[in-house]
Amino acid sequence: MEKFVINGGNALKGSVRIGGAKNAAVAILPAVLLADSPCIIENLPDISDVATILRSMQMLGAEIRTLSKTSVVIDPIHVKSHIVTKEMAEGMRASSYFLGALLGRMNKARVAPPGGCDFGVRPIDQHIKGFEALGAKVTIENGMVDARATKLMGCSIYLDVVSVGATINIMLAAARVRGLTIIENAAREPHIVDLANFLNSMGANIMGAGTNVIKIRGVENLHGTTYSIIPDQIEAGTYMVAAAATRGDVMVENVIPKHLESIIAKLTETGANVEQFDEAVRVSMTERPRKCNIKTMPHPGFPTDMQPQFATLLSIAEGTSIITEGVWDNRFRYVDQLNFMGADVQVDGKMAVITGVEKLNAAPVKAVDLRAGAAMIIAGLVAEGQTQVEDILYIDRGYENITEKLTLLGADIKRVPIKTDIAVLKHA
Ligand code: EPU
Repeated sequence: MEKFVINGGNALKGSVRIGGAKNAAVAILPAVLLADSPCIIENLPDISDVATILRSMQMLGAEIRTLSKTSVVIDPIHVKSHIVTKEMAEGMRASSYFLGALLGRMNKARVAPPGGCDFGVRPIDQHIKGFEALGAKVTIENGMVDARATKLMGCSIYLDVVSVGATINIMLAAARVRGLTIIENAAREPHIVDLANFLNSMGANIMGAGTNVIKIRGVENLHGTTYSIIPDQIEAGTYMVAAAATRGDVMVENVIPKHLESIIAKLTETGANVEQFDEAVRVSMTERPRKCNIKTMPHPGFPTDMQPQFATLLSIAEGTSIITEGVWDNRFRYVDQLNFMGADVQVDGKMAVITGVEKLNAAPVKAVDLRAGAAMIIAGLVAEGQTQVEDILYIDRGYENITEKLTLLGADIKRVPIKTDIAVLKHA
């Protein structure tokens, strides 16, 4: 086990290169299972969630060859198994995408229920509703979700909640199904558009991705392709907030500024200076941040995955800010950790009231989930003294080379092993 040790107080300066989008990669990789020839996937983020998906695909029978740290060639031809066990999926949320991809490939899928970060209840009823509308029978038995069909047919599905996962899963299941499938009230995130572009480059016929009505005209076969994943909007946003919180000046490179609009708008409200270029944004902050209110919403609203990082920035702002969580039931579990560091955040249900303090103090804290972990790192970068962040495996799921990238920006952060107390283990 490892932890991050951060000596706070350094303003971040310089430039950082953003990797491929996690939430696009974890959808596009299972989508390769729909192809009848090899695919080359480029700009993959170097994170543990991608490694887990690739390993699961290998166990299903796909042949995978690494071309570089960020690109692989995947040959799905010999995939015969339709079973993804709990051990293969390692509690990942995106394991649910194997349901749509395998159902679309072989009309059957048996997948351990998805895990992922704990934000309260994380149902998959809308995924199941979509599969059933396409003609599958879905049961949950012996701790596995089983979906199978003799024949799938295009259909219309209205999603009761805007769900990224359900939209993706239905697109995967429907891409090769005869007839027209229409998803209404679909999610509009950039990674939905990226998946549609990927499937279309394989020969699919998907229209409307990026709007709330997606139309999928099924095709018989999908062929191999070469595809480069979009940059990670949330990794970019995290470095942008870290630059502002440390009163630094950072050029965040290899981004699509259009995907960052809501993040740029809110950073600007806090007093940060944000310049936009074709494929980069520069964020600087010279004064104490100002308060601002945020409500998270599905895209193009403010992303819930940036909520904890902004809470850290607002915890040292002048004035009182309110954050309302509009996507998840319980995404404030990290607040206790932030308060250990001297922040003043009161949570009432889906609302957090943040009374800005002048400074945070170093403390031993935990990453309670992926983005909460990123928030703890930002808190450590601004706090006085040495902060230690434990449970960093959550952070490694979604942030590539985070210590290297932050060190290049002038941060004092190290990954160190946690000494295991053998006496404690023996009695555990
Ligand atoms: N929901 C349902 N029924 C469903 C599916 C979702 O009620 O069948 C509800 C959820 O409980 C939640 C809301 O709908 O309240 C939105 O959930 P969604 O399905 O959109 O989330 P997801 O697909 O499970 C993805 C990202 C999350 C991100 C959310 C929202 C991936 C692998 N995960 O999750 O990313 O928070 O969309 O944008 O794409 C992260 O990267 O840190 C992360 C948690």
